[in-house]
Amino acid sequence: MKINVLGLGYIGLPTALLLAKAGHEIVGVDIDEEKLKILKKGELPFKEPGLEELYHEAKNNFTLRTSPEKSDVFIIAVPTPLDRTIDVADLSSVKQAADMIYPVLRKDDLVVLESTVPPGTSKNLVLPILKKSGLDETEFHLVHSPERAIPGNTLNEMRYNDRIIGGLDKKATNKAKEVYSTFSEGEIFETDVKTAEMVKLMENTFRDVNIALANEFSRISEDSGIDVWEAIDLANNHPRVDILHPGPGVGGHCISVDPLFLTANSTTSKMINLAREINDSMPNFVLSLVRKKTAGIERPTISIFGVAYKGNVDDTRETPSKKIIKLANNEGYRVKCYDPHVKDFDYELYDLEESVRESDCILIVTDHDEFKEIDPKNLEMRNKNMIDSRNMIDKDLWIEAGFDVKIMGDDAEYTGY
Ligand SMILES: NC(=O)c1ccc[n+]([C@@H]2O[C@H](COP(=O)([O-])OP(=O)(O)OC[C@H]3O[C@@H](n4cnc5c(N)ncnc54)[C@H](O)[C@@H]3O)[C@@H](O)[C@H]2O)c1
Repeated sequence: MKINVLGLGYIGLPTALLLAKAGHEIVGVDIDEEKLKILKKGELPFKEPGLEELYHEAKNNFTLRTSPEKSDVFIIAVPTPLDRTIDVADLSSVKQAADMIYPVLRKDDLVVLESTVPPGTSKNLVLPILKKSGLDETEFHLVHSPERAIPGNTLNEMRYNDRIIGGLDKKATNKAKEVYSTFSEGEIFETDVKTAEMVKLMENTFRDVNIALANEFSRISEDSGIDVWEAIDLANNHPRVDILHPGPGVGGHCISVDPLFLTANSTTSKMINLAREINDSMPNFVLSLVRKKTAGIERPTISIFGVAYKGNVDDTRETPSKKIIKLANNEGYRVKCYDPHVKDFDYELYDLEESVRESDCILIVTDHDEFKEIDPKNLEMRNKNMIDSRNMIDKDLWIEAGFDVKIMGDDAEYTGY
């Protein structure tokens, strides 16, 4: 089959290459000419395990364009950020992609919307644009198939995760199943288009609310002299309990944004917005820990370890680090950032040694594996303070190296019987 994939980002590019490897003729479409230039040189615009090898294997079936061509299938994987001024999904890229497709849409073609969208978007926004082709909705096929892969393990998850396909009708769903089953080994569940849109948002909202609960437990533990990490581990021994981990805030393109796609149009939602509020306040809470550790130091410098929004990826979208840095700068802190995965960031990045030079406190924001390998004895700092908001370091090792260590959520006096 000939397939156009619109949007060659974290989701669209791996999808396009998996389909190309499966033998389809793929046209990768992106409006970002810089991104196309990088790809044309045989390089990747971002890091993802296994993607380089896949690009090499699939490139004979993969061409690059700035607009779509006539084909059998169109997959839309463009960004759907949140318009922060009004907390509503910004669907301008989805609209633009549909506008690019309808002039080349032919009878029996399939259009798949993979981007995460508020319920109703496929039917109310995308369908009317596609009908500008002169075809009516019985003559082409439209489905929503949300992508649920996680950065850092995208290729495996795209291959083995179960998939949901919600078609406007059964014929559309069947056609999409035919396409995805050429590379997906997970089970494919069928539903209607609006339910498929809802399911994706419910999944991310579930995680956001559960993280907010863990964050609240963490703050209560801080107030009560309890180690929240131990308490969560013990609670999770219960067969029907699965509490997630607290952290410095929720980032990324999905979990910190998608819940608001649900509440934007609701007059009844309370818990979802409250969870967002709790998670969005975590950077402030983390900074309050920094304040305590650096009290009495004149013009303190802090070293932020990790600016990616999660461990072992280079994605900084919606990262809690940005809010922590801004708040800290406003209070007169000097901030130096170190991230072994990120190359481009809004603030200057230093290597490990330089990031801690003359620093008064390290703050771990991202759980990159590399941070576990650091030998604290080798770090030269002005004051040896360590705040770990992810509970990832070997606390004893850092204490032995002379550090005053604080693990967020662990205020336990108790150290055993
Ligand atoms: N990144 C994730 O982990 C993840 C996971 C699941 C779902 N999603 C969803 O998938 C969608 C894509 O996310 P992403 O992370 O891949 O975004 P991204 O920003 O990495 O990539 C999107 C790409 O689309 C391009 N683009 C914008 N408008 C276009 C158009 N009209 N035609 C062609 N290309 C266009 C951009 O230039 C960019 O290269 C979003 O809706 C997101 O919520 C993302």
